[in-house]
Amino acid sequence: MPRCPFSGAAARASEWSPDRDETFGSAHGDYARLREQNPFPWSEDYGGFWAATTYEDILAVTQDDELFSTATQNVVPHVPRSSRRPPLHFDPPEHTEYRQAIDPVFRRSVVMAHRQAFTDSARDLVQGLADHPGPDAVRDFAAPFVMDAFAAVLGVPREMTREIREVGVRYGFAIQDMDDAVIAECSARLYEIAETVYRERAQQGADPGRDLVAGLHRAARDPSNGITDTTAIATVRQLIVAGMGAPQAVLGSSIVHLAQDLDLQQHLRAHPEDLPSAIEEFLRLHSPYRVFARTAKRDTVVHGRTVLQDEPIALLFPSANRDAARFERPDEFVLQRKQNSHLAFGRGSHRCPAATMGRLELLIALEELLRHTSGFELAGEVRMMNWLEYGPRSVPLTVHGVQH
Ligand code: HEM
Repeated sequence: MPRCPFSGAAARASEWSPDRDETFGSAHGDYARLREQNPFPWSEDYGGFWAATTYEDILAVTQDDELFSTATQNVVPHVPRSSRRPPLHFDPPEHTEYRQAIDPVFRRSVVMAHRQAFTDSARDLVQGLADHPGPDAVRDFAAPFVMDAFAAVLGVPREMTREIREVGVRYGFAIQDMDDAVIAECSARLYEIAETVYRERAQQGADPGRDLVAGLHRAARDPSNGITDTTAIATVRQLIVAGMGAPQAVLGSSIVHLAQDLDLQQHLRAHPEDLPSAIEEFLRLHSPYRVFARTAKRDTVVHGRTVLQDEPIALLFPSANRDAARFERPDEFVLQRKQNSHLAFGRGSHRCPAATMGRLELLIALEELLRHTSGFELAGEVRMMNWLEYGPRSVPLTVHGVQH
């Protein structure tokens, strides 16, 4: 592969451009074509990147820490970093220390303790939908709900929950609008919140095995690892952001799905016991992340193509999860699908630590929405987020029979 003598970059033509004007579901047609015709294309967009579209390639890349790294660039497009935020920007073995500190507080028994707080938030928000003149399932339900859920896990007082919700929702929409001033303002405030919670929790003697912040605080006191107060606070900050985008996007997509399939909506209202398997299908069909990336630590070959050192590979999880080589009837919703080993939460060392929490958020939010309404349908055009996450930005709804 010839390289540019000045930049060292490879001279190759662009083979694919992500569609910047998506409608709900439209990207999947594009991904299906790629998997069929050119499953590992090079794109000159966003500074240049490879796109891994098949289940097999994404599985292989996410599971190979020896060859692939998140330390140089872990998203497409490349975002210049003022500092590296664990755990996402670190490779094992450094990365492993952070996962050892945070994984225990995301285990099932701890997450389930927040069930009531999630339910209270979802119920309040569903009832609020009746008071809005033109309710929007993202603005008035999914976005505030995921911030409340994260605040519950963070264990902050009510006043701060309100602020986290407000700043988090503003931040999320500013990222979509690429409004740099608001992004910078909200980002700084989220850092301050993370720092305040961290410093205050240190005084309160919370159980480090059940409390996220106390667990990180204890790890920062352990001389056998590289975690410091500064990197522990950066981890809390990373979690706030990681904890809002994905669940909001999948929840928004699931609501659109249900608004478009009224039989399924009525079935799940009558049979909430089927919700957990429905949620696995929503996660598979509407996986939110396609910008997480790895760079090659040295020149290598993926899908028969030469990937040069430091070139980013975007992991198109939504594409992998509709790969016909892995799933039968990949574009169909199959309620009791057997062996639904989707990649919505990633694989390998960076797999989502909060998969149980994400699943619980979806379960409670959809359960409450179905239980306290007699029906809902789309009241206008669904607008999609930009490339960063795959999910709706706006879902105008008509909601019937909200029960107080
Ligand atoms: C439905 C909800 C969610 C989905 C689909 C999801 C998806 C993912 C995926 C695909 C990755 C892997 C990224 C990679 O390999 O580069 C990931 C990592 C991560 N997620 Fe989630 N996530 C969800 C919810 C959450 C929540 C609620 C939190 C925090 C409270 C969270 C925190 C993180 C963090 C910190 C990482 C990085 C882990 C590491 O680098 O070791 N996620 N998530």
